[in-house]
Amino acid sequence: MRIIVCENYQSLSKKAAQIIGSQMILKPNSVLGLATGSTPIGMYKNLIKMYEEGLIDFSKITTFNLDEYYNLPAENNQSYHYFMYDNLFNHININKENVHIPNGMAQDIDNECLHYDKMIDNSSGIDIQVLGIGNNAHIGFNEPTINFNKGTHVVTLDESTRKANARFFSSLEEVPTKAITMGTGSIFKSKKILLLASGKNKAEAIYNTVHGKVTPEVPSSILQFHQDVILILDKEAASLLSKDDYEVVQEVSKVK
Ligand code: PGA
Repeated sequence: MRIIVCENYQSLSKKAAQIIGSQMILKPNSVLGLATGSTPIGMYKNLIKMYEEGLIDFSKITTFNLDEYYNLPAENNQSYHYFMYDNLFNHININKENVHIPNGMAQDIDNECLHYDKMIDNSSGIDIQVLGIGNNAHIGFNEPTINFNKGTHVVTLDESTRKANARFFSSLEEVPTKAITMGTGSIFKSKKILLLASGKNKAEAIYNTVHGKVTPEVPSSILQFHQDVILILDKEAASLLSKDDYEVVQEVSKVK
């Protein structure tokens, strides 16, 4: 596990976008695994800027999103469909046919889960998967539980997750109780994983991800077994780690 600590959220976002951008330059038809939540928004802004500057091209890129609320229409401005179009897809030259987000409105939800995993398998596999992390160490919507879930599945959201996400809705009651998410197994199959965390409220989850026992009660702890994981943290999210755990990103000053 490689851990990079940035000065603040702005530099974390830039660093994450540079890593995704490099992947896209090296492999223009990359398959990207994408995440929602507040944390990746800055990375998406930087990617849009890189696209506008002509540095990266999304025309051959395929994407798979981690999760979506169950039974929340795509048009709802709190759906992850809406989030992804609003924060990224509407601003870049991605072919919309190459965009995949689990359909939480599917009539046959079990079939939707199987179909989603099949589509990932039928692509060349996810080259780089972006993850946020919950205060309870969830990745995607894989909440703390008694076993690691392999494939895409329906989950009942933890009360702590619903409360954390209530800030986006007008009330806690409006936050869906269920979601459809890629499993830890689907995430683990990604060739490279980029986990972003910002803020003091993530520090304990990050400590447990790096140093804790590997257990489904700490879903992110499975990443200790993955061969290519990069954690990009700001100082606050890294505050419970020791300095020996990580590398510090120095801001490069302009050379005249
Ligand atoms: P956040 O959510 O980026 O809004 O903190 C992360 C997550 O819950 O996975």
